[in-house]
Amino acid sequence: MSVKIRTELCKRIKGSLGNTQPPEAVNAVLSYLDLRRDNSSGDFIVSLPLRTREYDARSSADNIVSLKPDGVFTEVRPNENRLDNVLFRLNRDRCVREILENDPKTVTIPGIDDVGKKIIVEFSSPNIAKPFHVGHLRSTIIGNYVANINNFMRNDVRRINYLGDWGTQFGFVQLGINLLNVADEKMKQEPIKLLYDAYVHANKLAITDPSIAERAREIFNDLESGNARDIGKWETFRQFTVDELTATYQRLGVKFDEYNWESTYNAKNISQIISLMESQGLLITDSECRKVVSLHEKRQVPIIKSDGSTLYLTRDIAAAVDRFDRYKFDAMYYVVDTAQNEHFATLIKILEKMKFPWADRLTHLKFGRIKGMSTRKGSAVFLKDILDETQAVMRENQIQSPTTKVSLDSSDKSTDILGISAVIINDLKQRRSKDYNFDWNTALDIKGDTGVKMQYVHCRLKSLEENSGAKLPTECDPSLLREQIVEELIVQIGRFDQAVIKSHRELEPCILVNYLFGLSHAVNKGLKEIRVKGEPDDVASQRLLVFYAAKRVLAQGMKLLGLQPLDKM
Ligand code: ARG
Repeated sequence: MSVKIRTELCKRIKGSLGNTQPPEAVNAVLSYLDLRRDNSSGDFIVSLPLRTREYDARSSADNIVSLKPDGVFTEVRPNENRLDNVLFRLNRDRCVREILENDPKTVTIPGIDDVGKKIIVEFSSPNIAKPFHVGHLRSTIIGNYVANINNFMRNDVRRINYLGDWGTQFGFVQLGINLLNVADEKMKQEPIKLLYDAYVHANKLAITDPSIAERAREIFNDLESGNARDIGKWETFRQFTVDELTATYQRLGVKFDEYNWESTYNAKNISQIISLMESQGLLITDSECRKVVSLHEKRQVPIIKSDGSTLYLTRDIAAAVDRFDRYKFDAMYYVVDTAQNEHFATLIKILEKMKFPWADRLTHLKFGRIKGMSTRKGSAVFLKDILDETQAVMRENQIQSPTTKVSLDSSDKSTDILGISAVIINDLKQRRSKDYNFDWNTALDIKGDTGVKMQYVHCRLKSLEENSGAKLPTECDPSLLREQIVEELIVQIGRFDQAVIKSHRELEPCILVNYLFGLSHAVNKGLKEIRVKGEPDDVASQRLLVFYAAKRVLAQGMKLLGLQPLDKM
């Protein structure tokens, strides 16, 4: 309903709550204010639930309903249909004007919401020389959204990709490279695949030849202790890999502020942290000569192996400390699949035991599995394969579609963008924690609730703008926008800030996705029944303003989700 109206309403409500609610509750009120159009009266109504998970304001109900109307609302009353609920009737014209004239570039809620927090989002984080599996894809898509929406809410966001390049398996990779004698030039062209091949090759040999595993372990120990001769080469391979990954991320429209390496936190580099743990009396040596932390009687977690090398968990402890030293973050999100639940719970517990006061600022933002996402030839192993497959399937659809307007030659990027939009939306429309089945037909269906549909609606709005012959008015005139369908569309546009605030609070992209589907439906209905072309100038230009505002909101929402809005498809 425009952030301004929301903020003003919220301030009034805050005043009538007095000191009965904790400060966070007032923030929650913001996200619960729900704008609707009352079907029978045509009024623009905002409802406020008095009891939610975060607050119970029933004792302030009398204060709220006795608030004096002002420029924002014309009436406030209890909801006869639902107790525990208060209704504000808004000043319609002011509301229409603000919704249509407001540019949704950021959502800032002055004086009420907190902004400017330092937020770290760690996401994607694949392992070098191992497949970039669909879990990493989901992390990339969700993580990108989490970073975007925090940025939109005016937080200071840092995007980190924490690449796995350490552990015994890298002994296998190195050995495989030696055995296969891969030339550097070749490696440069296809590092991800060749490193993986090397890994697979050494592993295969190890099945019949036990000395292979032994040699791999030795190589890794040399790397870990800093005795390896080939470390420079290893660094080059890593750089090639990042170059290849960056190109693929670019197709997805994803950027990172930094790439971090697990290997940065190897045994040699983190002795300080180990000494700290030792001085705190947290480390004990177990019967297998490992250094372990005892979480409770039955649970001892290894921190240093008997040969002195680190573990995944150890490196995460060191990485968290390092990031706090560098950024003093207010929150850090690890966007990683549910399978690593226990790992992150342990990580946070250990940091608490180490008495870091910021340990509770870490959140494991978990998500369920995608099942059945494979290419038609077999299972997809690398991100690039998944994206190429998406592009191929999408192209077939475009070729067959009678509405295709783009030329489909090689310079055309729409196929790739459409396919990727489909994959992203198909993912983000699910609740994060849910496992879901991936199906190409559902994901790419232009008629269903998909990314392709969103793009299609965006293109239609763009084309209206170009072909209607109408011009945008200098000012909004609410008296010319009285039709029910138009009002419904305006209200739907006005629900954008609400969707954003809620989606941000819960870090659930599906809230925003569903909102955008609702908006797309309202737009389609509007385009079908409300004409712009051929109407008198003043009416045409006011109507165009409504569609223009819808396009702006749709585009902004799509960008937050990681889509690049298309003008033509
Ligand atoms: N590279 C890991 C994997 O693929 C994920 C890393 C997640 N982040 C972390 N800080 N542990 O399983």
